[in-house]
Amino acid sequence: MHIQNNVSLLPFNTFHIDALAHHYVEISSLDDLREVVAQKLPQKHEVLVLGGGSNVLLMHNFDGLVLKNNLSGKQVVNETEEHVYVKAASGEVWHEFVLYCIAQNYGGLENLSLIPGSVGASPIQNIGAYGAEIKDTFFELEALHLHTGKTETFALNDCHFGYRESVFKNKLKGQFFITSVTFKLSKNPVFRTDYGQIQSELDRLGVKELSVKAISDAVCNIRRSKLPDPAQIGNAGSFFKNPVIPNEQFVQLKQQYPDISAYPAERGTKIAAGWLIEKAGWKGKTLDGYGVHKNQALVLVNYGGASGEQIYQLSTDIIADIQKTFGIALEREVNKI
Ligand code: FAD
Ligand code: EPU
Repeated sequence: MHIQNNVSLLPFNTFHIDALAHHYVEISSLDDLREVVAQKLPQKHEVLVLGGGSNVLLMHNFDGLVLKNNLSGKQVVNETEEHVYVKAASGEVWHEFVLYCIAQNYGGLENLSLIPGSVGASPIQNIGAYGAEIKDTFFELEALHLHTGKTETFALNDCHFGYRESVFKNKLKGQFFITSVTFKLSKNPVFRTDYGQIQSELDRLGVKELSVKAISDAVCNIRRSKLPDPAQIGNAGSFFKNPVIPNEQFVQLKQQYPDISAYPAERGTKIAAGWLIEKAGWKGKTLDGYGVHKNQALVLVNYGGASGEQIYQLSTDIIADIQKTFGIALEREVNKI
């Protein structure tokens, strides 16, 4: 374990924010992690566990210890007639893990193809896309408590998954280093093609027989056509969550804005925040090297050189404007560090 000082985090966050980590250490084994705990470093410093850095906004230099997760490995740990249980180390790259499952014809993660980041961060906000969330295939995870060093296992119900939510974003925020996640995948996949453009993309590709691979390909194509590639333009995906509002409020808004984009949700109506932001005139707005993406208003972008504070201020201005225009409170999805 090698602790470095004043390390630039520029290559380690997809917003491409140039901030320094006061202390930085790569965690390549569980022993590295145990060593960090044995030296009581999390008691001495504020800790940031960093996976792919694709859902963080670094506001300024980080005056603590960054634990960059490089844990690797995956294995089948159990099997029944219907299911296979695959355990992946938390530092594995999410999309590579999804591709591995697809190559084995294990079903359940194909709709979540091409989401950036690590396996270990996937439970943090219960990643979701194209009609699936990881809670649908999640079996359990192992996490090491950063103060006690104790390893705990969290089953599905312990994680309190919700829309872009989990116990790790709330009550247990910052307490654990997730070391592995086990998924319960299907040997006889049920294909989910009803969401958004999946079916039309499958038709366009001329797919005659559905497979996890065909769905993954369709999802990847749709995502590439809509979302900016962080390798080209700094971003962290959706900056805001899609808000859920009471049905009565939706009925009123619908009268005023007949083209409003919305979906039924568990406790009300989910509004496409991208629609609200576009309608309010923010889409494509560019400030000094940063702004709102021109094709997807939910994505804030850094064209180069912006600070986390500038991007955060832009998000604050958008939130205030959406509140004033529509009476809806937008919540940020991205983790402010
Ligand atoms: P990081 O950004 O490194 O960390 C995110 C948070 O999790 C931080 O608070 C961090 O401390 C914590 N954390 C990370 N790893 C661990 C660990 N092992 N133990 C404890 N805490 C940890 N998200 C979706 O849900 N759906 C999408 O469709 C989607 N599309 C995206 C598209 C683009 C272009 C981009 C840039 C992002 C997108 N995201 C999406 C957001 C992002 O990819 C996910 O949130 C992803 O899970 C973040 O993984 P990461 O490893 O980069 O996490
Ligand atoms: N829309 C607009 N203008 C825009 C963008 C969107 O009007 O600029 C409207 C359109 O009506 C569109 C609707 O919003 O039909 C939905 O847009 P899209 O399908 O692009 O999805 P989203 O709601 O913007 C959500 C997730 C994404 C996820 C996709 C696909 C959230 C906050 N975002 O985006 O997740 O990939 O659906 O399932 O729930 C992320 O979390 O980082 C993320 C990218």
